[in-house]
Amino acid sequence: MIKPAGKIGVFDSGLGGLAVLREITKRMPEYGYLYLGDNLRAPYGDKSQEEIFKHTLAGVEWLFANGAEIVILACNTASANALRRIQREILPLEYPDKRVLGIIIPTVESMENFSRSGHIGVLATEATVASGVFEVEMEKHNPDIRTICQSGGMLVNLIERGKDQKILAAEIKSVVGGLLDRDGLIDTVILGCTHYALIAGQIERALPKNVKVVGQGGIVAAKLSDYMDRHSEIRVRLENRFLIDFYTTSGNEDIKKLMAQFYGEDSRVSTVEYDVS
Ligand code: DGL
Repeated sequence: MIKPAGKIGVFDSGLGGLAVLREITKRMPEYGYLYLGDNLRAPYGDKSQEEIFKHTLAGVEWLFANGAEIVILACNTASANALRRIQREILPLEYPDKRVLGIIIPTVESMENFSRSGHIGVLATEATVASGVFEVEMEKHNPDIRTICQSGGMLVNLIERGKDQKILAAEIKSVVGGLLDRDGLIDTVILGCTHYALIAGQIERALPKNVKVVGQGGIVAAKLSDYMDRHSEIRVRLENRFLIDFYTTSGNEDIKKLMAQFYGEDSRVSTVEYDVS
């Protein structure tokens, strides 16, 4: 019998998805993983919806071509601006047996559990904020919650560049200040851009003590594990052997080092190239 060799693909514009990958692999060490960061084209957050769609689709197709049976868009910007089109227009025609999942709906469904005041701030990229998806989905899920989305400005750029600490601290202060000025009752801040989870401690320190910071890694890992339990048609195609292969579209050695450093293990990272048309 041929053993199934399928993998779980995890995609992000760059380094942010590593924070999600870490939680997923901790929770489900029984599978094999492919991580792809499109660092060459990051950040996505200041791009048009059409560009984000094209870049995301190219990454997803690369992961499919390299063995992924299911891909998690560990990127809110891609989840907000490309997921639905991929699910509706691409998968049914070209990859009817494969799956692509986003991270915004699982986050929205869990957000209320963290807040007492019902006033929740979300820090996200410009393109995610512009999409309005967090507010729209929360309104559907629980209209009693007030969701205040604030752009994280230059944060993704600073993280991808290896963060100049002084500039980073100033940017965090201005972003956080802008959010709290809009609603004094916010008691929970959701890191609605996976990159921000990599500087969660610094964001936490910039906030008042009574405000909780919540990243998406744990939420997404729990929801994915639940999804796997319910979808045996995907599970049976996955290889039951733990491994993670890390890929980036960037040839920059510093990015590779950052990737290994952010994942927290001695990980080998390979550069890949593919067409984005
Ligand atoms: N990590 C991504 C997110 O969760 C986007 C970062 C970017 O490329 O702007 O939105």
